[in-house]
Amino acid sequence: MKHGLYLQLISIHGLIRGHSLELGRDADTGGQTKYVVELARALAASPDVAQVDLVTRLIHDRTVSRDYSRPVEQIADKARIVRIQCGGRRYHRKELLWPHLEEFIDKTIKFLTTQPRTPDIFHGHYADAGYVAMQLAAAFDVPFVFTGHSMGRNKLAKLLADGMTEPEIDRIYRMRTRIDHEEKIIANADLIITSTQQEIDLQYGLYDNGGKGKYKVIPPGLELDAFYPYYDSQLDIELLSEEEKQTAITLRKELHRFWARPEKPFILALCRPDHRKNIGGMIEAYGLDKELQAIANLAIFAGIRHDIKQMGDNEKLVLTEMLLQMDRFDLYGKLAIPKKHDFATEVPALYRMCAQSHGVFVNPALVEPFGLTLIEAAACGLPIVATNDGGPVDIVRNCESGLLVDVDRAEAISEAIKKILIDQETWSTFSNNGINGVRRHYSWKAHCTATMSECYRLLPQFQEAGKPIPTPRPSFGRRLTGLRKLLICDIDNTLIGDDASLLQLLALLEEHRHELAWGVATGRSLELTLEAMTDYNIPVPDILICSVGTEVYYGPDLRMDKGWQKHISHLWKPEEIKEALSGFHFLKFQEPEGQRSFKISYYLDNEDNRLARIHQALDERRLRCQVIYSHNQFLDILPYRASKGRAVNFLKYKYEFLPRYVMVAGDSGNDADMLQGRARGLIVGNHSEELAHLRNAPRIYFSEGRYASGIIEGLYHYGLL
Ligand code: GLC
Ligand code: MG
Repeated sequence: MKHGLYLQLISIHGLIRGHSLELGRDADTGGQTKYVVELARALAASPDVAQVDLVTRLIHDRTVSRDYSRPVEQIADKARIVRIQCGGRRYHRKELLWPHLEEFIDKTIKFLTTQPRTPDIFHGHYADAGYVAMQLAAAFDVPFVFTGHSMGRNKLAKLLADGMTEPEIDRIYRMRTRIDHEEKIIANADLIITSTQQEIDLQYGLYDNGGKGKYKVIPPGLELDAFYPYYDSQLDIELLSEEEKQTAITLRKELHRFWARPEKPFILALCRPDHRKNIGGMIEAYGLDKELQAIANLAIFAGIRHDIKQMGDNEKLVLTEMLLQMDRFDLYGKLAIPKKHDFATEVPALYRMCAQSHGVFVNPALVEPFGLTLIEAAACGLPIVATNDGGPVDIVRNCESGLLVDVDRAEAISEAIKKILIDQETWSTFSNNGINGVRRHYSWKAHCTATMSECYRLLPQFQEAGKPIPTPRPSFGRRLTGLRKLLICDIDNTLIGDDASLLQLLALLEEHRHELAWGVATGRSLELTLEAMTDYNIPVPDILICSVGTEVYYGPDLRMDKGWQKHISHLWKPEEIKEALSGFHFLKFQEPEGQRSFKISYYLDNEDNRLARIHQALDERRLRCQVIYSHNQFLDILPYRASKGRAVNFLKYKYEFLPRYVMVAGDSGNDADMLQGRARGLIVGNHSEELAHLRNAPRIYFSEGRYASGIIEGLYHYGLL
């Protein structure tokens, strides 16, 4: 990989590919999809960036294109889409993905083991990917950036206002889960990118942790190739394709059938037929002002309609009112209300046509969080009039391309429009300012420059060297994805028991740090494991598999592997197990510290076939779990997916360790399953009788050496040292 930053953008839901995005196909394939693809390409174009991965969900489903099942899709020189499977292969709506995010994280780490280096920044888009980015950033000890796109609390408020109940909302949208995750993300993100200041105040502001967020307003970029200035084609007609010319003619014909005096400038409004867009306010402003009617025509594009009668209530109301106003103010011959327009091709042409007429674009909406249409219009050279609130405030401050008004007052709207229409100089200044301002503030290039300078602030070492500087103690993620050899050993009577050889082993492990990762696997809880580390002066290892394989932690910060927890929780019913065994009076619970979320432990003297009776009781109730008996006294009941051996397998899988480079060492019954796996097994000279039966098992070496000296012997035997 070249010098520069390696960025991972994560956007999990929806249908994402490098060409012909299916925008609007479903609720999950919309603005965010377009945003992340354009962002990935734009960032990759920066000379400071070595590589951009846009990580999304792999979908292999006959109902969608096969494009979404390609694991890797190159979309630019240094950008690719990486697809990771989670929660099966079918396409699911985003609300159903929450239970599968740990799988997504594990498989992303697995993917990273195959890469020449690990990302310098993880950037999550929307709450689901924000959570994934937060976990990955913790694993690799790098900053994490978040872009919300939309926030749960605002959606919740809107749905409540629409009359839904909270339980209903939760059932359909998993709102509690989403909001809880968002709270954590806001508190932890090293940087939150928003499109406007209003998003910070009115969206993030609703969260308990809103005040803790580290925000930066960096508006998205516009596709400037589509929204070029109106004068380009006037200066050089050759620039226009036949298709563009045809579009322009169609539009002109459509508009001219409404207007008696089509040569006049026109006022353009373009929005969904939603009462919050305030189309009525616009028509009223025009209808009440005869002077304005004399100067200019009006064109209102309010979505596509076939039969108003058959539309939703909100739309029906808005469109009917529009027709009634036309009649009330007698705007025949002046007001155009075309029935349809095609967004992708006609909209830019429409802005340019309006600019060519020396018209004005008006967005009369009462609230406007961002105001994309204002930016598009300005990019084409069309002066704008909009509400003095939210996104438009940012836009007009940046571009000085129009006027902000109190849109509640019809007069204020018409006065502002006239001011621009009457004075040629004002019109030209606003027009030129818009064209220049959008290119300066709302291009992807500007977006990337701002984002990169934020990244450098988070990673000061990059700016100076232009390449990563190895940290003295790299994160566990970087170590484990980078190393090929792994040692996992039991603690009691394996690692500890003989102080002299323990010291020798620790010295060897330190000396071979750069090629060998190591960890412990023990029946002890995390607290008791750390106690052993302190008592015997053992540095915290790379991996700690505790409580008989039910918990996995990474040193030195003791971060828990939540993916493992999620994985083993399957079918785990601790209360029912305790209930099933409650009749056996010979079972005595171990001390409280022995009882964990995924481990129930008893003391047991195994006489009179007691173990068999326990198995039978569990089987009868169809309780799936593992029963592990060791040292003739400890009985552990674990989820059926958990054990020391399975935890080792999980690590092998996640970090791609080949079995022949993994050695596991133990001495007693609770080590048996890990010793019988595909890794290389080592049983120390001082082992307990329980393991004697493994003498002729494949891939198991019985050392002469006892305790740690047995481990050293094994490491040489298998060629790991
Ligand atoms: C450790 C644990 C105990 C467990 C035993 C066997 O002693 O503290 O809870 O039962 O190992 O796995
Ligand atoms: Mg032991």
